Amino acid sequence: MFNSIKFKLVILFLVVFSFFFAGLELFLYYELEDLTIQLADEHVTNEVETLANLMAVEEAQGQLESELAELSAATTGVYALKLSGHYYQVISSDGHVIVRSPSLVLADAALPMVASSTVPDYRTVIGPGGVPLRMVSRTYDFSIGKLTFQAADSLEETYMLLSSFRNIVLAIFPVVFIICGIGVFVMTGFALRSLKTFSAKVGQITEKNLSERIEERGAPAELKPLATSFNTMLGRLEESFSRQKQFLSDASHELRTPTSIIKSFCDVTLSRDRQAADYKESIKKIGDTVNRMCDIINRILVISRMDTKTLLFKPVRMDLRDIMRDVLKLIDPSAVNKGVVIKLNGPSVTVKGDREGLTEVFTNIVENAIKYNRPQGKVDIDISEFHGWGSVVVKDTGIGIPEGETEKIFDRFYRVDASRGVTVGSGLGLSIVRTIVEAHGGRVEVKSEVGKGTTFTVYIPLNQEFKNAAKT
Ligand SMILES: Nc1ncnc2c1ncn2[C@@H]1O[C@H](COP(=O)(O)OP(=O)(O)O)[C@@H](O)[C@H]1O
Ligand SMILES: [Mg+2]
Repeated sequence: MFNSIKFKLVILFLVVFSFFFAGLELFLYYELEDLTIQLADEHVTNEVETLANLMAVEEAQGQLESELAELSAATTGVYALKLSGHYYQVISSDGHVIVRSPSLVLADAALPMVASSTVPDYRTVIGPGGVPLRMVSRTYDFSIGKLTFQAADSLEETYMLLSSFRNIVLAIFPVVFIICGIGVFVMTGFALRSLKTFSAKVGQITEKNLSERIEERGAPAELKPLATSFNTMLGRLEESFSRQKQFLSDASHELRTPTSIIKSFCDVTLSRDRQAADYKESIKKIGDTVNRMCDIINRILVISRMDTKTLLFKPVRMDLRDIMRDVLKLIDPSAVNKGVVIKLNGPSVTVKGDREGLTEVFTNIVENAIKYNRPQGKVDIDISEFHGWGSVVVKDTGIGIPEGETEKIFDRFYRVDASRGVTVGSGLGLSIVRTIVEAHGGRVEVKSEVGKGTTFTVYIPLNQEFKNAAKT
């Protein structure tokens, strides 16, 4: 649950949301506070200026002192109500309060005194009755000396407004938090539904229905690449599964023939008493067939080890000419048997490869060149080096391969029909050849003309780190 994308998304959203919400509310709170204080400042400034202007007019008429004495008594409105929250007072140059608004006089209170200042001096103070006040003080020059005018307004309402704003926000926050949390939970659930469907579909695929595919067209954009790669993987799996199946059935089929030959030899030989020479003959034939079976089994083993990558190559530097000489030594008896003449031409070419692997490759190719040759035919082998590649061309004067079959001969167990009657073989040699050569980073090419002969060319890179190498 804690590890689910849905849970993480919801948590992430709520964290971001909480920060955003708290930030926004703090910003609004301070803006509101600023604004209300500004309004209070404007109001008290007006009051002080009005008083100062009034006194200036009275001074010009020579009535400043009498006006100061009567000012309080003449005041009406909110300034005349006891502790109304709206106050003014005038302080003389020697620091005495000489005039107070009735709202102060009636409660016998005064505003806190401040040092004289010719510019407005704003401050938030505690006034009569412990009420917070916004107060401005400003000193003006008069003929009777400096007079400091002070005016103050209660901040009680402002503070109440701010506190109710805070309370509303605190009450709203958990509600919005929960609603948004649920909303995101539901929405991500909805968005992730296709992932669920997708994984359910993937879960239904087993080795029995590998041919099924995930629908790519209807998939959401984010899942499309996943569906495509999954389908590609399925395709490869399906192919390799069916290849394995095919290989198994071909292998069993191929081994059945020699087995039935052995069985029938045994049956026939044992059907009645025979001479020692007959038994010897039978056992020899059985032995030959067993040899053939061993050959097939060995090749099947090589192929399956190459498939499972348990056959590891040991790359070493070696001369293609040396390899060819070794191969020819091994094969010479069968060439002599058939009267085929083999010629080896070309310089020493050093490549990096697996000695056993490459010996297997060229043994197979030269063996075929003899097997599918005419009696007294020829095999020409040319080694050369060209642009970073070593090449070996094996040219025979044999029966040739029909066009359209030159690619198929590299398939496992594939044999051209014409060869079946003529020679024994498993059809596995060339498939091993191709796998080994490709593991070396090289390639095999074949050109053939029926009745005239076949040419195999093997290209091996001179210096290639090849796949499936054993660590030395
Ligand atoms: N040099 C060649 N000339 C004619 N046909 C060939 C030659 N090499 C291979 N082939 C054909 O390719 C088939 C596959 O060869 P290979 O895989 O070596 O199997 P095998 O030799 O056991 O039959 C052979 O059966 C044969 O029909
Ligand atoms: Mg062969």
